[in-house]
Amino acid sequence: MKTSILLPLLLLTGITYATEPTIESHTSSLARGQHIFRYDTFGSEKFWGDQLKLHDAIKGSKNGGVGPGLSPKAALGAGLKVDINELPRSIQQAIKNGKVDLDDPSTTVVLLSYDAVVGVKGYFKGGQLKSVGINCALCHSTVDNSFAPGLGTRLDGWPNRDLNVGAVVSMAPNLKPIVDALGVDEESVKTILASWGPGRYDAELNQDGKAFRPDGKTGATVLPPAFGLAGVNLHTYNGWGSVPYWNAYVAVTQMHGQGNFFDPRLNNPAKYPLAVKNGTWNVKSENDMVSAKLNDLHFYQISLRAPKAPAGSYDVTMAKRGQALFNGKAQCMTCHVPPLYTEPGYNMHTGAEIGIDNFQAKRSPDEKYRTTPLKGLFVREKGGFYHDGRFADYRAVINHYDNVKKLDLSESEKLDLEQFLKSL
Ligand code: HEC
Ligand code: HEC
Repeated sequence: MKTSILLPLLLLTGITYATEPTIESHTSSLARGQHIFRYDTFGSEKFWGDQLKLHDAIKGSKNGGVGPGLSPKAALGAGLKVDINELPRSIQQAIKNGKVDLDDPSTTVVLLSYDAVVGVKGYFKGGQLKSVGINCALCHSTVDNSFAPGLGTRLDGWPNRDLNVGAVVSMAPNLKPIVDALGVDEESVKTILASWGPGRYDAELNQDGKAFRPDGKTGATVLPPAFGLAGVNLHTYNGWGSVPYWNAYVAVTQMHGQGNFFDPRLNNPAKYPLAVKNGTWNVKSENDMVSAKLNDLHFYQISLRAPKAPAGSYDVTMAKRGQALFNGKAQCMTCHVPPLYTEPGYNMHTGAEIGIDNFQAKRSPDEKYRTTPLKGLFVREKGGFYHDGRFADYRAVINHYDNVKKLDLSESEKLDLEQFLKSL
């Protein structure tokens, strides 16, 4: 009774009921998310530029910086990529005609002025490079090499398995902030950074200080894709949390952006001594440049579908037989449930369940490994499979499961399974 009297009144006074959530803002959310993913530094130039002086190493002494500088050739050699579409046609043409000096660090500065170095943003004042910050795209985008090797159109979400993060960080003239955070000397910091190699980064080192495994190998993991993650429960190889959780974690505690991050699980001096010592479990910033971006950033990431394996890159008939094996005799589907290829629900396992050690699992709160979603697997052939790239190729992974799970796969079954993995 009451509502029927009230409703016309409300309409008359101009108050309307929001009966359904609006959806028209989604395209702009996607565009904003893409922009954040590609270009936002979250204020990290305060760290990489202002403190570490990475821009001075890029410029080189001839341009007012220090050392030999970073030429485009050297940058490409370290696995950095150039988004050719950011450059004016005249410069594209000049590169094509060999008229651009790729051995000169000032050319790198020009590329930075056009935002063309994927994942690295230059800050300029009076035409001079004054600082640099980093973007998500640094590790989670590459280019299609359509222009030249290392130069092309962006592929967002693809892990850059060429990028030598450790070598790039090592160039910084001032490593003191890292020395202080890790509580080791500069030589040790350099040794750690050199131990990573291409396509790897250690996102937990500044929490637990565990740079090396008991066998002496690096604690860094291979860079994972940021595509194909919609519908997946826990993220990262050892399941730290959701995409927004991890984005805040990375932006604040790894990229050294300015923002808020809170995780009481890290407030554990036995397990995460550095997180406790440096307060990285509870970071409050006066100028939070992260939190307000997490929604659009999340939206963009879950929109990134895994790419389809190119036609002709695998044998269709064999892949079909391989699929039947994957879902049947080889028991892969018990954990990698199609179409997500991870468990819908709790997607975590002990090392024993997949026949490996627990070193990397133990570094995370749950102390387990997450079942990796397998879509777009072909993109990750370089650098090896599993969190540390321990299996060099498809066959090595299959042999591993064959041994651990006693699958008794024949040679031709392994070949079929290989083609299926290639097709994902
Ligand atoms: C310096 C390299 C680097 C940068 C920069 C970086 N990441 Fe990552 N990212 C990693 C590594 C390494 C992992 C795997 C960590 C692990 O499993 O321990 C990871 C994991 C992830 C994952 C989980 C993927 C999965 O399989 O569940 C997502 C999502 C992600 N990053 C998104 C981002 C976003 C968004 C940004 C920017 C805010 C970002 N990353 C910046 C290196 C980087
Ligand atoms: C008990 C659950 C389980 C079963 C069964 C299982 N996997 Fe996995 N798989 C995992 C987990 C967990 C990981 C992550 C391991 C890591 O990163 O160290 C993984 C990782 C992988 C990867 C590496 C992906 C990458 O990006 O590095 C491949 C490939 C793979 N599995 C294929 C298979 C195949 C093929 C089978 C069947 C023969 C199979 N898996 C059976 C749980 C399982």
